[in-house]
Formats: sequence, structure tokens, C-alpha cells
Amino acid sequence: IYVVFVASYTVVHLESLRDVLAKAELEIYIEEKKIEINPRYKLLYHITPAVGWMNAPNGFVYFKGEFHVFYQFYPYDTQWGPMHWGHVTSRNLVDWKHQPTALLPGKEQCFSGSVTDNDGILTVMYTAHQASNDPPYYNETQYMAFSIDGIDFHKYRHNPVIVSSPFTSPDFRDPKIFKHNNVWYTVVGSKTDDHRGVVLLYQSMNIINWEFVTVLAESNGELGSMWESPDFFELNGKHVLLISPQGMVSQGDRYKNTFQTGYIIGNFNYDNFQFTAEATFQELDYGHDFYSTQTTEKDGKRYLVAWFGMWESTHSEDVDGWVGAMTLFRELDLVGTRIVMKPVDAITSLRMQTVSEGELARNSSIQFEKTAELIINVDLSEKIELELKGSGVGGDWAIVRWDVDEAKMVLDRGGDVRQVGWEPLDSMTWRLFLDTCSIELFCGEGEVVFSSRMYPNGHWRVKNLSPHPIHVVAYKLKQSYREK
Ligand code: FRU
Repeated sequence: IYVVFVASYTVVHLESLRDVLAKAELEIYIEEKKIEINPRYKLLYHITPAVGWMNAPNGFVYFKGEFHVFYQFYPYDTQWGPMHWGHVTSRNLVDWKHQPTALLPGKEQCFSGSVTDNDGILTVMYTAHQASNDPPYYNETQYMAFSIDGIDFHKYRHNPVIVSSPFTSPDFRDPKIFKHNNVWYTVVGSKTDDHRGVVLLYQSMNIINWEFVTVLAESNGELGSMWESPDFFELNGKHVLLISPQGMVSQGDRYKNTFQTGYIIGNFNYDNFQFTAEATFQELDYGHDFYSTQTTEKDGKRYLVAWFGMWESTHSEDVDGWVGAMTLFRELDLVGTRIVMKPVDAITSLRMQTVSEGELARNSSIQFEKTAELIINVDLSEKIELELKGSGVGGDWAIVRWDVDEAKMVLDRGGDVRQVGWEPLDSMTWRLFLDTCSIELFCGEGEVVFSSRMYPNGHWRVKNLSPHPIHVVAYKLKQSYREK
């Protein structure tokens, strides 16, 4: 017995020693590699990876006085590779700082998942993606990890905690954990045997032992073949099911990105676990680069962040040593069956100085170095058109337009058009956020939002192409994401 004990004790300690060393080596690598980064396109107030590749956010929680956000991270290349969990923290959802990589792949890749504060233990549930020799050549199960200080994470020794889904597909990922009346739940994205996206609901009394409860929602065939990154929460008395479906076919102005992110509003009954939809699937953001969200609640407010990117897009920073970003953090509200999305209140703390204020005449422009917020009062009885481009030759251009005849908001990025009808709820302003290579446009109360990456050459230049002057207040914004 003694020998077995010593042997297993040594194995466990060797494992964790190996883990500690690998983490330390990775941080040294990141520090050294950072010097080689070409900063020309580095965003200044959005989260980006210090080096390498970033995709979806993976966990978003308020824990011991700080917000923590994790993300899909591959440090060694500017392309997707074996997934780690990068980590950043903030007190106000605006000023972010880099933290040591939270999870490193072992035999498994650390795919997306979520985090929760379980009585002072930061608890992670993530998808372990493992290659296998036989078809379908990979396998996905759910793993857990824990941290006391929110910085140093330890994988659970008896992983996996959820081994399989009720379906034969290996696609079974992105668990989002939450608590209701002292019971833990998690929703996981998957696909049915006849290739329809689904969200599966599991429950646990102790956060470790999980049992399958029900299929919470499934595609009717038109909502895609695989649902990624599910989230499920209450908002203004309704339940919101957020999903990122793959395989939807575009219809007119709708679903024009490679993959979509949107929501289904409904009611949920915890007695029989029935989710009854009240409205059909709606897109959350109409821009080119918005996918796979994470949300969290603090003081009754629901905050959201998304990957400011899209599978299969190209990035000018590919050759610069880093790729990928997170969107601005947004606060959600529900009006009827529609989610509205505003930048968090604290975003105004980014404003440094007013660059210009007043009427911008037709064909006049305002120029900004790398960052700006523009507040534009709009009169929707006439066409409004703004051109966004760089001061230099070449580079990307975009047109933001209010199409008065069609009553549509339009974002034309270099000929690749996204558009949607806009019926203002209350305020008729646009808030336009420009960072080094990104634009985010919030219309009115946030009922229409566009998030798109674009790469101007030189300083940003915003030109009024409307037939009339428009009223603009423009601020230069400070840098709020730091790697030190
Ligand atoms: C999109 C996603 C997840 C997966 C991860 C892989 O967020 O495809 O479904 O877990 O990225 O990096």
C-alpha cells in the first residue's frame, strides 16, 4: 500500500511540476517574442493576444474584485493551433491587463468553455478536444479546472466530468456553466445525428458529477448543422438562448458571414425543463466580424463580449506576429423580444480630448490618429452617408449609410455589404468607435450594431458624404489594453 501511495503521490507531483515548468517557459517565450511584434495594427482599447493567435472568448466572470476574461490562444503562430486559454483582467471592463496563460494543452486541446465563482473557487469547465486514430478522428469531452487566486489554474485530476452526448457526433463543446436555486447547470453545443444544431442541458448538485437533463433547443433544419458557444440566462423576465450556429444558408440581407451569432428569446420552466421560444432566431450584431460570445452578470447587469473576428477571414496583422481581438464590452437589455446592446457605461472613461465638435459640412472630413469615438446626431428624414478610410493611398474603405428609402442601416466594407432595417426606439444618435483596425457602430439604443475589422492606411479620415451637414462630437480615445 505504501509503495502504491508513494508512486501515485510522485506521479501527481511530477505532473504538476511539469505543468508549472511549461507555464513558466511559455511566459518567458511570450515576453521574448513580444519584442518582434510589429505594432502598426495593434488595437489600443480592445483585447488582443500579446503574441500569436486569438479566437473566441472562453469564460467571463467577476471574481474577487475583478473581471476575468479568457480566450482561445495559440502562442506559437499567427494561425489557429493547439488551443491554450489566454487570460486578461479588468476592474471596469475598459482597462485590461494581460495575465499568465491560464490553461495549456496536455493530451487534450483546451477548447472553449466558461468559468464561475463557486464560493471563492474560480471553477472552469472547458471542452477537451482530443485527436483519435479512428474515424471521426477526434473526440470532445468536458473537463474542469480550478483556481483559488484566479491566476494559477489546476486541472481536475479525474477529468473528464462529462464523457459523451446523447448523439453520435464528436462535436460536443463549449459548456456554459450557471447556477439556479443551488443547482448547477451547464449548456453544451452539439449536433443531432441528422446534422442539426442543438443545445444540451446538464445538471449537477456538486459541480463535479453531471447528468444529462434534456435537449434545450434544436435547429429545425434552417438554423444550421452545429451550434457552438451556447449561453442561457434571464434578461428582463425572459430567457435568452445565445448560440453561434454553423452551416446556416444566407437569405437576402441575413446570415451573410461565414457563421452567425444570435439568440432565441423564450420562457423557461425549471420544473419540467421546457424552453418555449417566443421569437425566432435573430442576429445579435450585423457586422462582418462578430462570433462566439460570452456573457456574465454583475449587479443585475448582463455584459457581453464576442470574438471580433470570423473563421476564414484574412487579417493584415497575419505577418505582424499577432492575430485576433475581442469586441468592446457591451451591456444587454431586452425590449420586447429584441436584445439591444450598448457599450458599457465606463467606456466614456476612454475619452481623452475632444477632437472636434459641431457641424460637419458636406464633403468635409475629420482626421484621427488611431482611435476615436464619434457621436453623430442623425436626422432620419434624409440620406446620411459617411466615408471611413485612411489618409494614405490604398488601405480599406467603408461607407456607413442610412438608406432613407429602404429605412435600412448599411455598412459597406469595400463592397462587402451588411444591411438591416432600423426603427429607432428612442435616441437617434450613432456612436462610432474607431480603433487602429476596427469599427463598431451602435445605432440609437443599440438596436442595430455593426462590428467589423478594417485596415485603413494612415490616419483615420471620416468624411461626410451626406447631402447636408451633420452634427458630430469626436473624441480621441486612450490606450486601455496593456500587456504589462
Ligand atoms: C468558436 C470555437 C469553439 C471551439 C473553439 C476552438 O468559439 O470554434 O466552438 O471550442 O472555437 O478554438
